[in-house]
Amino acid sequence: MSAPNIETIVSLSKRRGFVFPASDIYGGLGSSWDYGPLGVELANNIKSSWWRSFVYERDDMEGLDSAIIQNRLTWKYSGHEDTFSDPMVDCRACKSRYREDKLVDELGSTDAVGKSLQEQGIKCPNCGEVDWTEPRPFNLMFRTTVGAVSSDDDPAALAYLRPETAQGIFTNFANVLNTSRRKLPFGIAQIGKAFRNEVTPGNFIFRTREFEQMEIEYFVKPDDAGRAHQEWIDACRSWITSLGISGSNLKDYEQLSHELAHYSERTVDVLYRFFPERDDESKQWDELMGIANRSDYDLRMHSKKPEDREGKRLNPDSTEDLSYFDTATNERFYPYIIEPSIGVNRTLLAVMMDAYTEKTNEKGETRVILKLKPELAPIKVAVLPLAKNKPEIVEMAKKLKHELQPSMRAVYDDTGGIGKLYARQDEIGTPFCVTVDHESLEDNAVTVRDRDTWEQERIAVDQLSDWLVARLQKN
Ligand code: GAP
Repeated sequence: MSAPNIETIVSLSKRRGFVFPASDIYGGLGSSWDYGPLGVELANNIKSSWWRSFVYERDDMEGLDSAIIQNRLTWKYSGHEDTFSDPMVDCRACKSRYREDKLVDELGSTDAVGKSLQEQGIKCPNCGEVDWTEPRPFNLMFRTTVGAVSSDDDPAALAYLRPETAQGIFTNFANVLNTSRRKLPFGIAQIGKAFRNEVTPGNFIFRTREFEQMEIEYFVKPDDAGRAHQEWIDACRSWITSLGISGSNLKDYEQLSHELAHYSERTVDVLYRFFPERDDESKQWDELMGIANRSDYDLRMHSKKPEDREGKRLNPDSTEDLSYFDTATNERFYPYIIEPSIGVNRTLLAVMMDAYTEKTNEKGETRVILKLKPELAPIKVAVLPLAKNKPEIVEMAKKLKHELQPSMRAVYDDTGGIGKLYARQDEIGTPFCVTVDHESLEDNAVTVRDRDTWEQERIAVDQLSDWLVARLQKN
């Protein structure tokens, strides 16, 4: 089982402290979300898993953390200033604003491709009228100014918040290549915030204006790009399923030529079933990640060398040539780039949806269990005293928690009866609960309860840490 809809996760997140609406006390900000005590742990665990799998466990990767605000020219030569826009339409009746392509995806019929919203009779989701303006491009980059400027539209001070982490990797290609003494193929990984002034953010943390990306730019010889692209598609699918996401809720989508970004030769998206409640199966899916073959576009565009047919430099502002010299063949060329790019926030949402299950207890009550992989669980173990009015039990439980916490995230909780405490930990995905009872004072052993089976086992205190570590690693 997985969550029946995103709303179930919204409510669990707010109830238990995964994700809260940002600036809620001032009415919120539509698409901004804050990650609470459990959300920040889950997001950190997802990022660690990604970094470990793709940086530490491979021989061909380096890491990077580049700036969010770069020289504006980065975005000129990347093509974002000219082309990073979405088609925006307004409803003339109620003035609501939408992304045209998303309205078509969600409300249009598949045999009406190429027809306008008006021709397809697509109704405004807000007021139900069919009275649309013509679509016009809306650039998604957030603008800001750098330094103490006299006017907000001083072009010399104009800068952007990065809309993808990728460009910081391209502009550092030579720095990383030279300092790490790498040879092709190799890749650079980066995790960081990105910002897009989305026309229609929504669906909780699925589409927001501020989000976090985990991106890899993998540099290869042009002839190797096709094979490397497929290898990365397979590697990404296998990492996603390693997070516990079921293959039946994932599918690949080959982008059509008119859908490709300006830099892409081929892009395969991995879709997740984010909208299982929709009757039309084809509309249940949306993008979890994209894996693009960006050709040699980026390194060429950021280089001082290439010239057009008339001998004019493509980039008269760059001071560096980002071509690569292959000592084996004595050839110089611009590497092709394979780019697996995935959002932390969308991954977190997919992980929570897929881990969501319900189980009925012996009293006929429905309990939520978040069956997170132990590696991802925000809390690995909760230590619970059976009787909070018995000082020796409380003291033993608190001591145990302190002994466990150097090797795993452990919490102590005595704010309810044991049944309630178990239910609370099940709902937030804690793999194990340790209960200290009257007998523990005699036999120096505790009861360990498994989140998924609800089975209990008696474990000696001096073996507890090793016992838990072994099981947390195994799952
Ligand atoms: N560098 C390539 C790139 O940025 P993208 O398909 O635009 O490609 C990559 O974004 C991933 O970033 C998406 O698959 C998604 O997981 C995440 N993402 C993009 N826009 C997002 C948004 N507005 N809110 C949340 N996540 C987003």
